[in-house]
Amino acid sequence: MRNIAIFASGSGSNAENIIRYFKNHPDVRVDSVWSNKKEAFVLQRSKDLGIESRYFTREEFMVPDRMIRELQSRNIDLIVLAGFLWLVPPEFVDAFTIINIHPALLPGYGGKGMYGSFVHESVVNNKDKESGITIHLVNREYDKGDHLLQVKCPVLPDDTPDTLAARIHELEYQFFPRAIEDFLNRNH
Ligand code: GAR
Repeated sequence: MRNIAIFASGSGSNAENIIRYFKNHPDVRVDSVWSNKKEAFVLQRSKDLGIESRYFTREEFMVPDRMIRELQSRNIDLIVLAGFLWLVPPEFVDAFTIINIHPALLPGYGGKGMYGSFVHESVVNNKDKESGITIHLVNREYDKGDHLLQVKCPVLPDDTPDTLAARIHELEYQFFPRAIEDFLNRNH
């Protein structure tokens, strides 16, 4: 069995989709969900789905020996960032394989401060013809790790940041769990 820990900062619709996808899966299980925001809806969602949910402080994350030991004692094979907004400290990058999803076609629209609706606003303001998602490994820099998968979608002339976000979310729901599954199958 391969164990996943999900890190998320917000609503957690991707986290929920991943939890549902791997429910009753023969080889992969979502062990726990971790959030840096006490009030994040993702913590409620995952609890409702029967997954252990944990809040952590900036201090626990930045001096992460205890968190890393806890994740190791849970035999975590993979950390999945699903709408997680802090830069991951090097200690985590060295200790775990980590995958992130980004709601644009990297290297465009990446880096610090480029997340969620800010990304979609920029894409719409620039009148780009296409956007998409990038699923990638996490290294020590924001949005710079090796790409595992990119999927494109059109940006329509009358799109708002919200309509584009909805299209991107659909792509994320369709492709993220399977990209995680494929990655784990290739690396055991
Ligand atoms: C997702 O669109 C994800 O790609 C994005 O945040 C959203 C979270 O939605 N991540 C980033 O922008 C990371 N830089 P969710 O909480 O409903 O899953």
